[in-house]
Amino acid sequence: RLDVIEVFHGISFPGHLHTQESLQLAQKFPFKDTDILIASYPKSGTTWMQQIVTLISSKGNPNLSQTVPNWTRAPWLEQYYFSVLLEASSITSRVITTHLPHHLLGPALQGSKAKVIYVSRNPKDVVVSFYHFHKMANFLPEAGTFSEFFNRFLEGTLSYGSWFDHVKDWTSHTATMNNLLHITYEEMSLDLYGTIKRVSSFLQSNLVEDEVNNCVKHCSFSSMKNNKMVNYTLIDEEIIDHSKGSFMRKGKIGDWKNMFTEEQNQYFKSVFKSKMQDCTLEFVWE
Ligand code: PPS
Repeated sequence: RLDVIEVFHGISFPGHLHTQESLQLAQKFPFKDTDILIASYPKSGTTWMQQIVTLISSKGNPNLSQTVPNWTRAPWLEQYYFSVLLEASSITSRVITTHLPHHLLGPALQGSKAKVIYVSRNPKDVVVSFYHFHKMANFLPEAGTFSEFFNRFLEGTLSYGSWFDHVKDWTSHTATMNNLLHITYEEMSLDLYGTIKRVSSFLQSNLVEDEVNNCVKHCSFSSMKNNKMVNYTLIDEEIIDHSKGSFMRKGKIGDWKNMFTEEQNQYFKSVFKSKMQDCTLEFVWE
């Protein structure tokens, strides 16, 4: 079966991509100070940030982003093919992606000067995007009804664990780690140009205006939707059923309003309030 689950430290991971060994290896990964790590809970803008970082490293030249799939140029640390991809990569500044929660990866990062970009998105849109993705991804467990999926999201029992813990744990380290930059999906959406400037200055890769404009052009939603190297259409139908939806689905802020009932919205707000009471982050909801 494609949708087997691998449970690691109490968190479910898709067995199609993860093994106990790959997860253990991720925890012991020897980061180099020159590494760039993109960390996120799924559906928060990971692919978008992979594209932004590739384009910044290429000074806005789209060649790499149009010829090499995102999972090869910015492989997921915890997935079983990671070491093969990393070995094959000849780039000096490695770009690595992870969906691991901070408590599983923090020790490996301790003492490292690797640059970490944490990407978050308002959780109402995350749950909606994740739901639609479950319906087309045959390597993920059955989505069930939206209401069932919504409850699993709030309980923290979906793949990759609790969104609340993920965001709180990673972002609570922004103050103490000066090599951690927190970027939100909403920020990318509302000011892509400004976000690219922020990320490029964090990566100490200052770009001239034309280069920033080229980055903007090649990481817009329409350009990424049509780019086979990031839209996941290279993945076999058996694994991702492209007849059931598209990875580059809507790319909008506030789509939750088309899915949530008023009751679900009130319930979500109350859970959010209690789980995030010790967190000062502000989210853009619509
Ligand atoms: S994954 O599976 O965790 O890697 O998914 P992730 O890339 O984090 O999130 C997928 C959602 O991001 C949207 N996306 C974009 N939105 C706007 N502009 C650009 N360029 C862009 N690229 C990806 C994608 O459409 C998914 O969101 P939804 O709401 O489902 O459309």
